[in-house]
Amino acid sequence: MKQILLINGPNLALLGSREPGIYGVETLDQIVKAVSRHAEDAGFVIKHFQSDIEGELVRAIGESRHNCQGIIINPAAYTHTSVAIRDAISACGLPTVEVHLSNTYKREPFRHDSLTVPVCVGQIMGFGAYGYLLALEALINYLRKAAGE
Ligand code: DQA
Repeated sequence: MKQILLINGPNLALLGSREPGIYGVETLDQIVKAVSRHAEDAGFVIKHFQSDIEGELVRAIGESRHNCQGIIINPAAYTHTSVAIRDAISACGLPTVEVHLSNTYKREPFRHDSLTVPVCVGQIMGFGAYGYLLALEALINYLRKAAGE
């Protein structure tokens, strides 16, 4: 079965109770279950990894090159700071879609820059938990096109 790595960065384990006015009421577990269900329907398996630790995220991205076809990532706060995560995405060479629950351009200026998006296929933001399903659809479409399907 073809695998997609779904990665969530710091503080996203708190979804559901974390600033629901910004991030919504869905828990991370609910989001992962919904993405997994949709992926299965399309013939993919979701491998999920959440960590608050930058190095663990870097390692998971690096390891995914052996057994995954693509990556969906919400690097959370590391979006705006992490050269290491950017380099990991670039080094692993897998097509990657960046997702954010909130529209970061409507928020504080320090959230307007993403160090990671230049090494991604594209970015989806501002649609809450639904954005993860959009990211999945976009990634699967990209993978199918790349495979000439
Ligand atoms: C976020 C946006 C980031 O700026 C923030 O640090 C997060 C979540 C989002 O999904 O909207 O933790 O990535």
